[in-house]
Amino acid sequence: MKNLPASLTPARLQSLARQHGTPLWVYDANTIRSRIAQLKSFDTIRFAQKACSNTHILRLMREQGVKVDSVSRGEVLRAITAGFVPGSEDIVFTADLMDHETLATVVQHRVPVNAGSIDMLHQLGAASPGHPVWLRINPGFGHGHSNKTNTGGEHSKHGIWHTELGNALAVIRQRGLKLVGLHMHIGSGVDYSHLSQVCGAMVELVREAKAAGHDLHAISAGGGLSIPYREGDATIDTAHYFGLWDAARKEAEAIVGHALALEIEPGRFLVAESGLLLSEVRATKDAGANHFVLVDAGFSELMRPAMYGSFHDMSVIAADGGARPARASVVAGPLCESGDVFTQEDGGVVAPRELPQAQVGDLLVIHDTGAYGASMSSNYNSRPLAAEVLVDGTADRLIRRRQTVEELLALEA
Ligand code: LLP
Repeated sequence: MKNLPASLTPARLQSLARQHGTPLWVYDANTIRSRIAQLKSFDTIRFAQKACSNTHILRLMREQGVKVDSVSRGEVLRAITAGFVPGSEDIVFTADLMDHETLATVVQHRVPVNAGSIDMLHQLGAASPGHPVWLRINPGFGHGHSNKTNTGGEHSKHGIWHTELGNALAVIRQRGLKLVGLHMHIGSGVDYSHLSQVCGAMVELVREAKAAGHDLHAISAGGGLSIPYREGDATIDTAHYFGLWDAARKEAEAIVGHALALEIEPGRFLVAESGLLLSEVRATKDAGANHFVLVDAGFSELMRPAMYGSFHDMSVIAADGGARPARASVVAGPLCESGDVFTQEDGGVVAPRELPQAQVGDLLVIHDTGAYGASMSSNYNSRPLAAEVLVDGTADRLIRRRQTVEELLALEA
């Protein structure tokens, strides 16, 4: 079982659960700061806020000099609320399409747009001549921890297909847009050999843009860096990764004849390991060979196991502080679906796991849930969104209160 961050002792988690109730998201600020420090060699760290978009987490990022990527109108407005300055390089909007309201918002705040389709360029150019743009290119290959998170290759809807770069550049010129940079993001939870292929592809794109008479100021490596969800999983050697990109940047600089800023755009890497989902064991039962531990969090809170078969480590904090013998357990939630199970693996809904035998009243801690945890929660089964707490050393703060059922019903009044 993984170690908890130093500031999140079992006693403290019990106290937070008592104070705020469960299910409860808990983030450790120092873990986020240390992940940021690991990427400091990049000129810009642009946090893909979809991973964890709480405005207090965004503020913490901003205080550390991190910039932000937004993928919806809501995320742009969150970034502005967190103090990022619209119209500067603080916020970039990345998408493959823009609805009318989003287009109006990025134009109003002059947020640079990272375009994943040529139609976006036409629409933006018509609405906002001179608007700064990035081009998100699909290099024709991709990778991810699951097919659902692979964003490159011809099965992916993301980015402008690499052979269309010339056409995209022509539209930029025709519409009077201002090219800032080139960007690629080939997927999420990408293995290192795939990640490093992006560097060479980027140099070729820069060469093509230059040959077509375009200048640019920046390149972005995208995100996708994986984290060790399982004990023993490889960790990313961030110094080595920076070295690969720095070499690619130098090649690209030789092509354009001036300095280029190098960006990286991680979501998961910055926040996954900072977060825990606390739930309380409310029932246990046996069904034939399976021993079920039923907790008060479900896939309405943490979607990843049900959606991708993702593995998350778990700990049990015994209510009485006592030791618990190990037992193969299936950990499941309260929802009305058989797939509401946290111990599952790709392709198998129920995958019992050796865990301390939890009893009713114990806390079950789900690790590494700071990324794509709260941000992917839903109101399924009319469950209010859970509360979020940020722990910073000895201090802790409720950074989102629990939603109420009354608030849900008010939308339908
Ligand atoms: N940049 C772009 C354009 C992206 O689409 C994404 C993620 C990122 C950066 C950040 O990727 P990261 O560094 O976090 O891997 N819900 C899935 C992950 C989906 C990621 C979507 N895009 C999960 O829970 O694993």
